[in-house]
Amino acid sequence: MVKMPLDVRETLSKQKPVPIATSSKDGVPNVIFVGLMKILDDETLMVVDNFFKKTVDNLSENPRISVICYDPQTKKSYQIKGRTQICKEGQTYDEMKSWVKGINDKLPARSCVIIKVEEIYNALWGPGAGDRIA
Ligand SMILES: Cc1cc2nc3c(=O)[nH]c(=O)nc-3n(C[C@H](O)[C@H](O)[C@H](O)COP(=O)(O)O)c2cc1C
Repeated sequence: MVKMPLDVRETLSKQKPVPIATSSKDGVPNVIFVGLMKILDDETLMVVDNFFKKTVDNLSENPRISVICYDPQTKKSYQIKGRTQICKEGQTYDEMKSWVKGINDKLPARSCVIIKVEEIYNALWGPGAGDRIA
């Protein structure tokens, strides 16, 4: 696991919606938008499964994810890769349920996907593009 530096956390928290990419075990890629993402701590993200279909199928057979963010004001962009765990009970799940309920109590909030950050890359153009930063 790696820690997300402040720049990465700030850039990600401004990204709305956040594109997240998963893959089937056979390598078929799938990218979707999520609006409900939280930074739980320096090493951990969480996304809410309200409507996931291919995404949850992919994560069940291949628990890896990639997330991207870009802030046009600061001109910073980061690509984050991590390992996921689908969570349907426990404290994090209960906290997610009440958070989502406060936003829109019609959303199903079926589960939360916990993302343990493993790699972070500079995803901006120019020198340093593609370099691993954490
Ligand atoms: C702006 C936007 C925000 C979204 N946010 C979420 C979200 O937070 N959670 C969720 O489950 N689906 C969300 N969706 C729906 C997913 O992007 C997608 O439609 C769903 O996961 C089904 O696609 P899949 O079969 O590839 O998983 C959002 C869609 C849009 C356009």
